[in-house]
Amino acid sequence: MSNPRVFIFDTTLRDGEQVPGCKLNTEQKIEIARALEELGVDVIEAGFPVSSPGDFASVEAVSKAVKHAVVCGLSRAVENDIEVAARALRHAKHPRLHTGIGVSEMHIRYKLRCSPSEIIDRAVGAVKYAKRFVHDVEFYAEDAGRADNAFLARVIEAAIKAGATVLNIPDTTGYCLPEEYGAKIRYLKENVKGIDNAILSTHCHNDLGLATANSIAGLQNGARQVECTINGIGERAGNTSLEEVVMILRQHAHLGFETGINTRLLNPISQLVSERMGMPVQPNKAIVGANAFAHSSGIHQDGVIKKRETYEIIDPLEVGVDHSKIVLTARSGRAAIAYRAKNIGHNLSKEELDRVYTRFLSVADSKKEVNDEDLLQIISIEVPATV
Ligand code: KIV
Ligand code: ZN
Repeated sequence: MSNPRVFIFDTTLRDGEQVPGCKLNTEQKIEIARALEELGVDVIEAGFPVSSPGDFASVEAVSKAVKHAVVCGLSRAVENDIEVAARALRHAKHPRLHTGIGVSEMHIRYKLRCSPSEIIDRAVGAVKYAKRFVHDVEFYAEDAGRADNAFLARVIEAAIKAGATVLNIPDTTGYCLPEEYGAKIRYLKENVKGIDNAILSTHCHNDLGLATANSIAGLQNGARQVECTINGIGERAGNTSLEEVVMILRQHAHLGFETGINTRLLNPISQLVSERMGMPVQPNKAIVGANAFAHSSGIHQDGVIKKRETYEIIDPLEVGVDHSKIVLTARSGRAAIAYRAKNIGHNLSKEELDRVYTRFLSVADSKKEVNDEDLLQIISIEVPATV
C-alpha cells in the first residue's frame, strides 16, 4: 500500500467564505482558524490577500495565530498578487503560497484570451516567482475538470519543474463524474515526470452533488490531499464537505487512508462555522445536519431502540453528537412512545401505553412533532396517578 496519509486542506476561510452574505471579520476568522487547528487539519487556506485590505489583514492575523498547521494564501498567476500574498503570510510558521491559472479551453480562450503556450509560461513564471518568497508552493490548474488531460499534464509537469510541490487539480465547475475525475488523477500519475515527488490535490465543487464522490475517486487514483470546507460551504453549490470525506475514510477503513482529524470536534466546528457565517446547516446534511442521527418512523425507531446499528452506521459520539434522537411524529410507533416516556420518568404498562398511544396519535396528527411536554400532558390525562 502506498502512503496512506491524506492531508486535509481546509478552505472554509477562502473558498467557503465566497458564499454571498457570509463575510467573516478578522476576529471570526482567527476563532475559526484556531478551531480548525484543534480539529487537526493540515492546511488552512486563510484568504486571498490581494482581493481586499480586510482579507490581507485576516491572512496576516491567522498567520500569527496558527501554531502548527500550514497557513496558505491564494493568488492569481500575477506577480503583484504573489508579492501581496507573501507579505500577508510572512508571520506564518509554515507558509504556503497557492498560485495558478486556468487550463481549460473555455478559460484560456474566453477568460484569459491567450494561447496554450502562454498559459504554460505564466504558470512557470508564477511558481518561480512564488518560490522567491516561500519554499512551499502549491499550483492550481483552474477548471482542470474540463481541461484536456494531455495539456493539463504538460502544465503540471512544467509547474513541478519550476518548483511546485503540491499540484491542485480543481473541478472548478463541479462537472466531472467520479470515474472521469479519478481517471484524470490517474492519467497525471502515469504521465507527468516528477509527479511521485509531488502531492496531487483534489479540489471539487458540488454543482452536480458529486464533490465528495469525486474527491474520494481522486484519492483512490493517487491524490493525497483533499481541499474541502466545513459544512461543504462555498461558491455556488459549495465545495467538498470536510466532514463527509473524513467520515468516509474512517467508515471505509479498507480504503487504507488516514487523516489527522479529531472527528469528535466535527459537530462543534460545524455549528461554529454555521453561527459565525449566519448560514444554517440543512437538517438532512450528512454527518452534521440536525437530522443526521434522528429517527422518526416507527419501523426505524423500533430497530434503533433495540440496537442502534440497525439504522446508524456512525456512532453519534464519534462526531461529537451526544446521542441519537427518537423524534415523535404521527409515523412513530408504541416502542418510541414507551422509550420517550421512560426517558421522562414513566415506565408505562402495556395497557397504559395503549391508552397513551391512542391519544398521542390524535395529537401527532395535528402537530408536526410531539415534544416531551406534550407527552407529559398526554400521560397526565391517560395515566393521572403516575404524574
Ligand atoms: O475552484 C477553483 O478552481 C479554485 C481555485 C482558485 C483553487 O477555487
Ligand atoms: Zn474552488
